[in-house]
Amino acid sequence: MKLSILNILRNHKDIFISGEELSRQLGVTRAAIWKHMKQLQEEGYVIESFTKKGYRLLFEPPKLSIEKISSNLANNSLAKKILYFETIDSTNEYCKKNSESLTDGTIILSDSQSNGKGRFDRNWFSPKGKGIYCSIFLKPVISTYEIYKITLITCAAITEVLIKQGVNAQIKWPNDIYVKNKKIGGILTEMKGDMDRINYLVIGFGLNINQDSKDFPQDLSSIATSLKTVYDLEFDREEILTGILNKLEKYYKEFQHSLNFSESLDIIRKHSLVINKNVTLSKGKEKISAKVLNIGDNGELIIDRNGREECIYSGEISLSINQ
Ligand code: BTN
Repeated sequence: MKLSILNILRNHKDIFISGEELSRQLGVTRAAIWKHMKQLQEEGYVIESFTKKGYRLLFEPPKLSIEKISSNLANNSLAKKILYFETIDSTNEYCKKNSESLTDGTIILSDSQSNGKGRFDRNWFSPKGKGIYCSIFLKPVISTYEIYKITLITCAAITEVLIKQGVNAQIKWPNDIYVKNKKIGGILTEMKGDMDRINYLVIGFGLNINQDSKDFPQDLSSIATSLKTVYDLEFDREEILTGILNKLEKYYKEFQHSLNFSESLDIIRKHSLVINKNVTLSKGKEKISAKVLNIGDNGELIIDRNGREECIYSGEISLSINQ
């Protein structure tokens, strides 16, 4: 229904169409039309409405150019197939639901998510036409125990590409990207498998690119930001996305081949937001206060806890920096 309304508005470009006419054409009540208009506005469509005149479409959020993305990813083994959606509940959920039919090296991209997922069942704010919401479906031949390193490799690829764009990106171990002490990106790696074999792996990443500060809900605005908000510039989402996928392919191939991820580790250490900081690590109800000393050669966090050195592997740990 929403799409039918949108198509009628598109066909009436610059001309008002009344709620009555829309409800006649689509066979639904005017209240239903109003509800869908509200949803479209929440998704970023600018629709003018006047009681006597009706509705008029003024602006549509930009769509990712799949042509540009595909041509920049020719021969990329992570993107042998690209599935694009204007909107979806969650690109990660799509991968999990369709894991039987998806093949290794499939990218799921969406211009918005209605139920984007973060770690610890949090929501990932995914407004239309402004961010990058991407999942990579893979069937790697790697031991299950090594999989957590893929998140770190992805962090490194994202950070490197952002730095090349002039962005002062930092990594908050193990899966967050920060700029000016606020979060602009996160990675959610999910997998199915047993001890010996991975059935499939999904690397999902979300980046806040061209959101304006007013786009963020109040509860997020103190902790999250976007590149546009920080640098007062529009960034090229396609260029960033394909840059990341090309960098990640290089690191992933090397890791699959030799389990070597030293180049990623160098980036993670160099651009770490947590090394030398006092932090609180939470695992369920347990909380640990510590100072981060370094990131170890296996990607683990090396901490000083009450004068004793300990290693922390990411697992279900969340980290916050003490002020
Ligand atoms: C986090 O910081 O907690 C991880 C956020 C991951 C968000 C991305 S957006 C694309 C993919 N699909 C999802 O539902 N989540 C990931």
